[in-house]
Amino acid sequence: MADTIAFIDLQAQRRRLGAPLEAAIKEAVEGGQWILGPQVAEFEKSIAQWAGVKHAVACANGTDALLLILRAWGIGPGDAVFVPAFTFAASAEVVALAGASPVFVDVLPDTFNMDPASLETAIALVKKDGALKAKAVMPVDLFGQPADYRALEPIASREGLKLLCDTAQGFGGLLDDRRAGAIGDAAATSFFPAKPLGCYGDGGACFTNDDALKDRLLSLRMHGQGSDRYEHVQIGMNSRLDTIQAAILIEKLKIFSEEIEKRNAVAQRYNDAFAGSNRIKTPLVIEGAVSTWAQYTLQVADRAKIQAGLKEKAIPTAVYYPIPLSRQPAYAAYPSAPVPVSEALSGHVVSLPMHPYLSQTAQDRVIAAVLANAG
Ligand SMILES: Cc1ncc(COP(=O)(O)O)c(C=O)c1O
Repeated sequence: MADTIAFIDLQAQRRRLGAPLEAAIKEAVEGGQWILGPQVAEFEKSIAQWAGVKHAVACANGTDALLLILRAWGIGPGDAVFVPAFTFAASAEVVALAGASPVFVDVLPDTFNMDPASLETAIALVKKDGALKAKAVMPVDLFGQPADYRALEPIASREGLKLLCDTAQGFGGLLDDRRAGAIGDAAATSFFPAKPLGCYGDGGACFTNDDALKDRLLSLRMHGQGSDRYEHVQIGMNSRLDTIQAAILIEKLKIFSEEIEKRNAVAQRYNDAFAGSNRIKTPLVIEGAVSTWAQYTLQVADRAKIQAGLKEKAIPTAVYYPIPLSRQPAYAAYPSAPVPVSEALSGHVVSLPMHPYLSQTAQDRVIAAVLANAG
């Protein structure tokens, strides 16, 4: 049997990064400042510069990054935050953890991202019901593509809603020359290892151009500290990025632009190969956008058949996401606009191996197996 194809090949990336990566890790360990050491500030500066945003505040993971921002804005009980129904649970979880209410919005069938028309429906629903006060909208850059901020930004600004971009999967993508991370009142990303820019453990970051927000985030991530380490001006959290992770991220950021290009080449090859099949729907990237391809996700009629057929050929697949959040036991009681697209997608999506080091031979194996099992 042929070798198993890696869904994401982080060891290939590690081999490529080689000695400088090993040296950076060694230096971080020997430096002895393991929490918020100098590499963290250096990384915050370089990633902010890379994304074209004024401030980056690193923290313990992407979930915390979202929560820190919501808390810094004072979002809490009685507040509504609009979240897509088709996303990873963390997007809604943080709203509930802040004490506010997620309100679910449907997504578009070709990009998987928040549907502006459904956002309007959800806003109207909250206003009519009157129990919650609409405070923020949290589009998710799902699978790597920036949400359609051209349509979402004007709605947020008209309604006086804060725009928080959950760019855990899409950090570094582009929309009209703006990087995901630099869009919105604030953005949050994850450095979970499998993300396009990941570290060797958990990590995350908040991004903003707002100086006052940056100061509140710095305090919140350190137990709400004031001007002195042991003065606490607000109830904070312990959410910091380890120095060793920052050292790894500094090295990985150096090759990130090139890796995004390589992911796009793989996606283009997949798109071209599947374009002729009327049994397979390929993901759409809107005009003027660049995806980081955190996932390459098809819509197929018979998902079980494709998954079984690929498994037989030692090709892994994954389903993101099998149940919309609005139907999850933990979230079913929260308000929701009608989400028929999220419902339909959850039954038909399947993600294929995608990473910058996927050889053309491996791509061809994936393509042949998908075409052979598509119907
Ligand atoms: C869309 C989305 N939001 C938030 C998160 C949370 O990130 P983390 O796992 O670093 O807490 C993730 C990743 O897991 C995600 O995919």
